[in-house]
Amino acid sequence: MKITIVGTGYVGLVTGTCLAETGNEVLCVDIDVQKVAMMQQGNVPIYESHLDVLFQRNIKANRLKFTTSLEKGVSFGDIVFLALPTPEDEDGAADLSYVLGVAEQIGRLIADYKVIVDKSTVPVGTTESVKRAIAKNAKIDFDVVSNPEFLREGFAVEDFLKPERIVIGSSSDRAIEVMKKLYNPFVRSGNPILVMDEKSAELTKYAANAFLATKITFMNEIANFCERVGADVDKVRIGMGTDSRIGKRFLFPGIGYGGSCFPKDVKALHKSGKDSGYNFEILNAVIKVNNVQKTILIPKVEAYFENDLKGKTIAIWGLAFKPETDDIREAPALYIINELLNKGVKVVAFDPEAMSSVQRKYGNKISFSDTMYSALDNADALIISTEWSIFRTPNFNKVKKLLNNAVIFDGRNLYDINDMEKEGITYVSIGRKEVN
Ligand SMILES: NC(=O)c1ccc[n+]([C@@H]2O[C@H](COP(=O)([O-])OP(=O)(O)OC[C@H]3O[C@@H](n4cnc5c(N)ncnc54)[C@H](O)[C@@H]3O)[C@@H](O)[C@H]2O)c1
Repeated sequence: MKITIVGTGYVGLVTGTCLAETGNEVLCVDIDVQKVAMMQQGNVPIYESHLDVLFQRNIKANRLKFTTSLEKGVSFGDIVFLALPTPEDEDGAADLSYVLGVAEQIGRLIADYKVIVDKSTVPVGTTESVKRAIAKNAKIDFDVVSNPEFLREGFAVEDFLKPERIVIGSSSDRAIEVMKKLYNPFVRSGNPILVMDEKSAELTKYAANAFLATKITFMNEIANFCERVGADVDKVRIGMGTDSRIGKRFLFPGIGYGGSCFPKDVKALHKSGKDSGYNFEILNAVIKVNNVQKTILIPKVEAYFENDLKGKTIAIWGLAFKPETDDIREAPALYIINELLNKGVKVVAFDPEAMSSVQRKYGNKISFSDTMYSALDNADALIISTEWSIFRTPNFNKVKKLLNNAVIFDGRNLYDINDMEKEGITYVSIGRKEVN
């Protein structure tokens, strides 16, 4: 099939590359001239595990191409995916201007039947709005399908190639057939293609993300409570998670959720509720608790240094909002850095993939290290904010030798409390007792 992807970011590029991998011809459109030039030269503009191999292979096979021209894109594909940003508005709603703006342009450009697929995360009713925006200018028959994306950054290729489910929201038999044909190669092991109405498909995505954010936040509150009453959240987590109704995943406490999806999606669902006269009390609480959680380590750092942080140097391991990505959108590390800078602290950071994005944001307000160990040299403390695997078993002798004080504030609970006690490192984590 001939596929066009409009918006070649984390979702669009992975979608385009993986659809090319099953033999489709794919043209990716993006408004970012530099990004398109980079991709045309064969370079992947984001860090996403295994993407580069598929990307190179499909470019070589002439199945994956890039352009800045929406006109070329619309005339090329039988299916046109919208993988455009839906960022947070000032009032928490999803900003639909990218999606509806492109839809209006598509209306002027289509000359034969197309299936327009919305892959962006959008509020209930957007498929209808996209239809109206296209119809304003279109003189030809078309269908609009809601096809929310569930891939996780860091595992995006794996998730796209072997999805747990595919959700298709459409009332058009013709469009449903086209979508099933496109996705059948990805569900050969029997995972379902769930066909439903457009509104339910749109809400499925928000409900899934809001539920996961709630699960994380619930566990963070349990962790905060553990600290007050002397319980150990790791034991509680395992005790809870073995109940199959609860499940083991998404129970790890930490310094809050971040990223390009959970924060904005929880707020957008909350705002949609408000707009329809429904107050999502639970989401209100999730948003509030998560905001506090992102900087929950700061009072602990202040307590250690007896409120005298000015002029101290603090090393940070991990800037990305989670491991295996270079994405720093809403990353807790950034909130921690801002707090530290406000308190006159010098920050030295290390992250395996995300340093250049943070450097663009902060310039020389903080410094960066080439290795995780050089960040510690002469620092007064270490804060861990992302659970990259390379941080899991460091050489603690080296850590102790390099730091001015043997103290670690761990926002991701990477180390065993007993090991830290034996190492003689002051170790402050989340929902567990402080040692030394
Ligand atoms: N990132 C994720 O993990 C993830 C997962 C599931 C769903 N989503 C949703 O998918 C959508 C896209 O997210 P993303 O993370 O890929 O965004 P992104 O910011 O990484 O990419 C969006 C791309 O769209 C391009 N763009 C903007 N305006 C354009 C226009 N008018 N024409 C062509 N291109 C244009 C941008 O230059 C950018 O390359 C969002 O709605 C998001 O909520 C994201």
